[in-house]
Amino acid sequence: MRAILLGPPGAGKGTQADTIVKEFSIPHISTGDIFRKNIKEGTVLGKKAKEYMDQGLLVPDELTVELVKDRLLDEDCKNGFLLDGFPRTIFQADALEEALKDMNQSLDYVVNIEVRKELLIERAVGRRVCKDCGQTYHMTFNRPAVEGVCDNCKGELLQRKDDTEETVTKRINVYQEQTEPLIEYYTNKGIIVNIDGEKPIAEVGKNIVAKLRNK
Ligand code: AP5
Ligand code: ZN
Repeated sequence: MRAILLGPPGAGKGTQADTIVKEFSIPHISTGDIFRKNIKEGTVLGKKAKEYMDQGLLVPDELTVELVKDRLLDEDCKNGFLLDGFPRTIFQADALEEALKDMNQSLDYVVNIEVRKELLIERAVGRRVCKDCGQTYHMTFNRPAVEGVCDNCKGELLQRKDDTEETVTKRINVYQEQTEPLIEYYTNKGIIVNIDGEKPIAEVGKNIVAKLRNK
C-alpha cells in the first residue's frame, strides 16, 4: 500500500502512523522526523531546516522534495510506504507524482485526518515527545505512566520547540494557505479517505484501518 497522511498540525498523523505501518507492514516516512533527526545531528540540512521550522514555516520545496525522492528509492519502500507530512504543497504533490511515475508506481490512498482548529492548539501545546525513542504523549489525552518519563524506554519527555501556542498558530495558518489545497487535489484524483480525527486515539486508528481494508 502506498499512502499519504494529510492533516493539520496536531491532527494525529504521527500517532496514527504507528498503527497504520504496523497493520500494513510498510515503512513510515515523516519529513518532520527526518528534519528533526538532522537538527539533532547538526547536519547542513538540519541547520537549514531549523531556520524555517522554528518559525513555523515550511522548509523550501527544493530541500524537501529531493530528500523524499531519495528515500523512496530505498529497498524497504518497494512494496509500499506511508508518507506523513509530505506532500505539503501542490509543487511537492506534483513532484511526488512524477517520481512515482518514473518508478511505475502510483498512490493508493490519501488519509485526510479532520480536526477543528480549536482543538489543534491544545493537542500540540500539550504534546510531549521522548527524547530517546521519539514516542509521542499528551499531558491530558495520552499520559505516560510516570510524569515526564517514557513508558517504552524511560527516556525524558520534552516539548518540541515549535509547539508553543504562537508557533502552532502560525503552523496552522501555513497549513490552511499552502497544504489544504491538497484536499481538493486528491479528491479530484478519487483517492481521498476522510477520517474524523476528533474521536479518541484508538477509535480513530480502528476507523482508518477499517476504511483502508474495505476500499
Ligand atoms: P511535522 O513534524 O510534520 O509537524 P506537523 O505536520 O505540524 O504535525 P505534528 O507533528 O505537529 O502533528 P501530528 O498530526 O503528527 O500530531 P500527533 O500525532 O503528534 O512538521 C514540522 C515542521 O517540519 C513543519 O512546520 C515544517 O517546518 C517542516 N516540514 C515537515 N514536512 C515538510 C514538508 N513536506 N515541506 C516543508 N516543510 C516540512 O498528535 C498531536 C498531539 O495530540 C499528541 O500529543 C497526541 O498524543 C495527541 N493526540 C493525537 N490524536 C489524538 C486524539 N484522537 N485525541 C486526543 N489527543 C490526540
Ligand atoms: Zn522513549
